[in-house]
Amino acid sequence: MLNEPSITLNNGVKIPVFGLGVFRSEPGQSTADAVAWALEAGYRHIDTAAAYRNEEDVAAGIERSGVKREEIFITTKLSTKDIEAKNTAEGFETSLKKLKTDYVDLYLLHWPVPNYVEAWEKLIGLYEQKRIRAIGVSNFQIHHLQTLESLGLLTPAANQIELHPSFQQKDVKPYCEEKGIAVEAWSPLGGQDHLLLNEPVLLEIAKKHGKTAAQVIIRWHIDLGNVVIPKSVKQARIAENAQVFDFKLDASDLAKIAAMDTNQRSYWDPERFGTK
Ligand SMILES: NC(=O)c1ccc[n+]([C@@H]2O[C@H](COP(=O)([O-])OP(=O)(O)OC[C@H]3O[C@@H](n4cnc5c(N)ncnc54)[C@H](OP(=O)(O)O)[C@@H]3O)[C@@H](O)[C@H]2O)c1
Repeated sequence: MLNEPSITLNNGVKIPVFGLGVFRSEPGQSTADAVAWALEAGYRHIDTAAAYRNEEDVAAGIERSGVKREEIFITTKLSTKDIEAKNTAEGFETSLKKLKTDYVDLYLLHWPVPNYVEAWEKLIGLYEQKRIRAIGVSNFQIHHLQTLESLGLLTPAANQIELHPSFQQKDVKPYCEEKGIAVEAWSPLGGQDHLLLNEPVLLEIAKKHGKTAAQVIIRWHIDLGNVVIPKSVKQARIAENAQVFDFKLDASDLAKIAAMDTNQRSYWDPERFGTK
C-alpha cells in the first residue's frame, strides 16, 4: 500500500496528494485496466472528466478492483460544453450515473469558459445539498478567481492547472496558496507530447537517488505541496509512479529543478480555450 499523505482542503476534506489521471486513456478496457492496476498498487485517487469519455470505464476498473467506493477519492469535471450551455445539473447527474456512484469527492469546472460564474453558483448548490464533498475549478487564472471572490461566492477548494518543471506557475500557484486553494498539477510529467523524462538535469538527480526521472518529478510536486495525478495505461509505469514515498529531494535538487522553469505553457491557454 502507498500509505500516502493527504492535503486538507479548505472545507476540511482530505485529498490524497497522489492519484491516477486518465486523460487520453482510451475509453474501454485500457482505462478500466489502468484504474484497476492503480487501485491494486495502492492508489486511492482517480482524476477523470466528462470530456475524457471514460467515466464508465473508471467505474468498471473500480468495480474490478474490489476496493470500496468510500476508500477512493474520485474527481470529475463539468465539461466546457455543459458550462456554456448552462447544463450543470444534467452534466453532474450524467457523470454520477456513468461513475456508478451517488457522490463525487471533488467536482471541478473544467475551464473558465463563458457562464462559468453561473456554473459555479450551481456547483455551490450541489455542494450544499451534500452531493459533492468538495468543489473546485480548473485552469482558472488569478482574475477568474478574483471574479468569484468579488461576487462573494464560496472559495474553490482546488484549482487544477498545467504545472510541471518547465511551467511552474509562479504567479497562479502562490496566489492559490495565499487564498487557501489547493493546487493540483495537470500534465505533471510534461504531458504526452512534451514529456520531460529525458531532461539531463532530471536524469542526473534520478541517478543520484536510484530513481527514475518520472519518480523525481512526482516527488518534486509532492515536496512543493502540489496534488499530482500522473497518467499511465501501463501497469509497470503505474507501479513505478507510486514509488515516491521512500526518498526525498534535497535543497540542491530542488534548486536545479526550479531553474528548469521556462514560464512557457505546453498546452492550451485558458484565456483562449474554446475560442475559434
Ligand atoms: N484539468 C485539465 O484541463 C487537465 C488537462 C490535462 C490533464 N489533466 C489531468 O492530468 C492528468 C495527467 O496529465 P497528462 O495525462 O496530460 O500528462 P502526464 O501525466 O504528465 O504524462 C502522461 C504521459 O506520460 C507517460 N508516462 C507516465 N508515466 C511514465 C513513466 N513512468 N515513464 C515513462 N512515461 C510515462 C504516459 O504514457 P503511457 O500512458 O503510455 O504510460 C503519457 O504519455 C491527466 O490524465 C488528467 O487526469 C487535466
